[in-house]
Amino acid sequence: MDDRYLKKLELSDAFIVGVSDIDEYHQYLVSLINDTVDAWLEGDLDQCRVRWDLFCLKLSEHFIEEEEIMRGYGYEVSKHNQAHVDILEKTKTICTDNKTLEEWKMCIYGGINDLVEDILKHDLHFAAFLKDYVKPRHKSPDKAK
Ligand SMILES: [Fe+2]
Ligand SMILES: [Fe+2]
Repeated sequence: MDDRYLKKLELSDAFIVGVSDIDEYHQYLVSLINDTVDAWLEGDLDQCRVRWDLFCLKLSEHFIEEEEIMRGYGYEVSKHNQAHVDILEKTKTICTDNKTLEEWKMCIYGGINDLVEDILKHDLHFAAFLKDYVKPRHKSPDKAK
């Protein structure tokens, strides 16, 4: 396959979860995967590796932070956690031996799909939960005084 086209990821408003720390991190992850796409478009195998590794590192940090935020709202995260674990396991194994642009292409596609799928299947499930969320009464509202 000599197709040298790889589309960058854009998240529409439909992907907004409603917690700024989560949404901002999603945009950061998009910028990291798109940096990897740029390296791929330039045919730079070394930078594909460097940028992909950074994406994976930040993805794992995001998952930890995201689950912590969700737990803070009393949201049950075990299913979501399993999805995160599976994605990280996949990202660790599928791209370790990449030596060609074609291999990197499949890898980057996989990263984009996993990120999009996690937001759609799991993060937005939390967003729906948030719509009915009622702050516990013992916590005083911000700026109450
Ligand atoms: Fe997320
Ligand atoms: Fe998630």
